[in-house]
Order: sequence, then C-alpha cells, then structure tokens
Amino acid sequence: MQIRAAVLEEFGKPLVVQDVGLDGPKAGEVLVRVQACGVCHTDLYTASGVDPSGYAPTVLGHEGAGVVEAVGEGVTSLAPGDHVLTLFSPQCRECVHCTSGKTNICLAIRDEQNQGYLPDHTTRLHRGDERIRHFMGTSTFAEATVMPEIALAKVPREAPLDVLCTLACGATTGIGAALYIAKVEPGATVAVFGAGLVGLGAVAGAKLAGAERIFIVDPSADRRAKAVDLGATDELDGGEEAVARILEETGGFGADYTFEATGLVDVMRQAVEAARMGWGQCVIAGVAGRGETLNVIPRYLITGRRIAGASFGGARGRDDVPALARLYLEGKLPLERFISHHLPLAQVNEAFELMERQDGIRTVLTF
Ligand code: CU
Ligand code: ZN
Repeated sequence: MQIRAAVLEEFGKPLVVQDVGLDGPKAGEVLVRVQACGVCHTDLYTASGVDPSGYAPTVLGHEGAGVVEAVGEGVTSLAPGDHVLTLFSPQCRECVHCTSGKTNICLAIRDEQNQGYLPDHTTRLHRGDERIRHFMGTSTFAEATVMPEIALAKVPREAPLDVLCTLACGATTGIGAALYIAKVEPGATVAVFGAGLVGLGAVAGAKLAGAERIFIVDPSADRRAKAVDLGATDELDGGEEAVARILEETGGFGADYTFEATGLVDVMRQAVEAARMGWGQCVIAGVAGRGETLNVIPRYLITGRRIAGASFGGARGRDDVPALARLYLEGKLPLERFISHHLPLAQVNEAFELMERQDGIRTVLTF
C-alpha cells in the first residue's frame, strides 16, 4: 500500500512529507492505521543529526496511537479494530529480562530495532526499490505502520487516541518514574526538576500516589503553573538556590523522592543533592547527551541517598500502559492537560519549531 509519511531525508533539514510504500504484516506482525502521534524530543534529536547512532532516510515518530487493520500469521493477542499504542520499548514476556520481574528493558528485538529493521532483519517501508529503515521500531509519523505484536499495547476503545498517544512515550516516562521506579507513597515529599511532559508526568504520578508536598523546579512560570494545576504545591525557578530552598523547606533534610526531567547533567546533580539524607531516592528520567557524565560527591550516597534511572518510566509496555489508560478513563490521570497543540501530519516541521521555541508542552499530529 502507499501511505503519506514524514521522511528524514537529510540530517538538519526539514522532514519531507511524501508517499512511501508499506508492505503488509509478516508472521508475528501487525498493520496499524495511525490516528495520532505526539512529537517528542527524541524525534527532533535524531532529525538534527547530533545523535551518532541516527540514520537516514527513515520515517520518524514513536509516540503513536492507532487502530489495528490487519494481523500477520500467528498473532493471537490483537485483532482488526483493536486500539493500540506503539511501544518503542517492547515486552515479549519471554526473555530473561521480561521474566525477571526486575526490569522493563526487553531483550527480544533490541539489535534489529536499533539498526532500523523489523525482527526478521528486513523493512516494510520502501520507495520503489529503495528500502527505508524504520525508526525506534515504530515510524509513526505516517498514516500506517507495521510493527511486531510484542511492541503494541492494547488500550480501551472508549479513550480518544489523540490523548492516549502521550502514553506511548513522554507521559508514561514521567508517570512511571513516580509509580514504578520511586514507588512514591502517600504523604511523601517530592521534588521534580523540569516541567516538560516528563516532569509534568512525574508530578501527576506523584499526586496520584498521594504525595503530600510536590516541589516543581523550572525557570518558566507558564510551565510551573501547569505543574501546579496537576498537583505541585511549591514553585522554584531553578539554579543552585533551588536545592538550598528544598532543604530549608524540609527541615534541612531534603525530599523523599526527586525526579530529574531535563536531561542536563548539572540539574541531575542538583536532584541528587536535594534528595533526603537516609533514604532519599533520585530518579533520573531525562536523557543526557552522549558522552556526558554525572558528577556526584560520594558522601551523598554513603549517607543513604540512592540514584535510580529508568527508560520509559520502568513501564512494561503491554501490561502497564493499558493500566495507565484505564486510570485516565477513571479521571485519575488528566493526560489531556499535557497537550498544547494539534497539527496535521503535513505540518510536522512546525511541530519541531514549536518544540525548539519551547512553546507549549506537547504537539500531537493527527491523520
Ligand atoms: Cu519520546
Ligand atoms: Zn522480553
């Protein structure tokens, strides 16, 4: 079939929306009609060419939501008409990591996915005879995509896909950091550094878990206001004073849980230093640039602070993402507040410009 898709032709240049070919699903694969897709920093980072592991041409996009149109041989958990979110972090339920119960980092298709191939080491995307590689195993800046069954989360049909798509990356990364990594408990004191989608997700997750006090640290008053809407109780505009203020406001101890959602290594250090002596846990959810290092004075660790990191908020995609979608339907996770703009696929480059200007929280492309 022919589909419209946003192709990264050349690093540092605008994406080119054009017709590309998409082959049908092979064994274990599913054809998904994409309905909505959030535009995330990782897409922009790859398009810029700064990521040394990036490649072109490819169809970007990974925060996708859609409807199953056809399934390949042997697919048992999904059927045409099912609503799904695309998972750049799959869950095979069989590998040594999936069965450990200790991590969400599935090993099943990692190598193929990193190189831009489906599990059988071929691509479904092409332009005439030229094969086009997939991006993050998802390539959802497109009207349709073919993905392995193990990389799709089935979600309730009642929920609007142009809101749920945020759970395919940014929102789950933040919410999961609070619920699955920190396991915030009722009454806890929390500090969140960075009020982009991931940080706001951490605020929403901490609030849902019953945190009593939630500090939001961000230089933008608009973004802090969003965090306050979601349950933040104290606003700080950042810098080294932020750590001193958090310590001061917590009897000199620090917060039970701190979350870093900026990707800046200096802020990561501040998040560690703002965690409580004795048991404070700092969860790193932001992605630092390749080659950067985190500077932590070891005494912070000897005195009982811990640092954890997580990809995709520690969420096991096929189990936890549907559960978060149900919490949204129950009115417990106001995902719609994360979305600031809706644009058609043809305006994908405007979505990148909005992100570069830090205008709004999340732009969702619709098809
Ligand atoms: Cu993302
Ligand atoms: Zn696995």
